[in-house]
Parts: sequence; C-alpha cells; structure tokens
Amino acid sequence: MDRLNKILSDERYVLYLNKIKLHEKGRKFCKHNTKHFLAVSRIAYIMCLEKKLDIKKDIIYAIGFLHDIGRWKQYESKIPHEKASAALSRSILERCGYTKTETRVIISAIENHRNSNNTPIILNNIIYKSDKLSRNCFNCKVQNECDWTIEMKNLMIKY
Ligand SMILES: [Fe+2]
Ligand SMILES: [Fe+2]
Repeated sequence: MDRLNKILSDERYVLYLNKIKLHEKGRKFCKHNTKHFLAVSRIAYIMCLEKKLDIKKDIIYAIGFLHDIGRWKQYESKIPHEKASAALSRSILERCGYTKTETRVIISAIENHRNSNNTPIILNNIIYKSDKLSRNCFNCKVQNECDWTIEMKNLMIKY
C-alpha cells in the first residue's frame, strides 16, 4: 500500500483535502473527508473480494481516496466534482507511481462514481455502490432533512 500512503502525504492532496474541510465546516450533512474515503475504499475492497475480482488493493483505495477530492471546486465554481476530482487526480497518481493503464482505470471509476448503477464496468459499479453504502443513515440526526429517498438511505448495515 506504499503508493496509496504516498497519496495521503502528497502536498496537493493535503491542500485539496483542507479546502474541502473549510467549505464543509458548518455542514450538517455527510462530509467528504478521509473517514468517508476509507469507508468507500473498504466496502469496495470487500465487494471486489466477494466477486473474486483480481484488482490491486492500492488501485481500489486510490479511487476511494480520490473520488471526491475535487469537491472544493464544486463549492467554489460549481464544476461537477466527479469531473474536477478526475482532473486533479491525474498528476497525483503519476507522482505516486501508478502506471498509465492503472490511472485510466482509476480515472474512469472517479468520473463515473455518480452515474447510475447500470454501468457495464464492474469496478465502476462497485465504486458507485460503495459510495452510497458508506453513509451511516441508520445513525444520522438529520436523516429527515436529507434529500436521499428512503430507498437510497442505508437504514440497515450491509457492509
Ligand atoms: Fe462524490
Ligand atoms: Fe463520495
């Protein structure tokens, strides 16, 4: 997991994370922080194991830790964060030793993490689901104010 841990200490990565933190200071709904990134990564990794997919752990975790990293751009200039995150991730991945082919896989999953369930790419579908499943709706004080439908909310723990 050396490459993943390199991402966590990447100067740009830390800067983006801090920008998100500032924007979400008073946010009562789910935040986009390392707690969320870790939950998404772990759920996605479990799902890959269940499906017996041979995908490197540090690729799955790179997606988990980068998929929302452009969220600050959405707050500042309304750029959809999946697009911003994909664009900002490219050079971080390069600096941290991910190959061009691996980067393509990671970027595709980041770009599509808000798209519906119906993607033909299994990993992208797993990331989409993990992102949703990572939220602890069953334990949320503002559950009634959240715009997720009752079907979307995680009222039972699955992972
Ligand atoms: Fe997102
Ligand atoms: Fe997310």
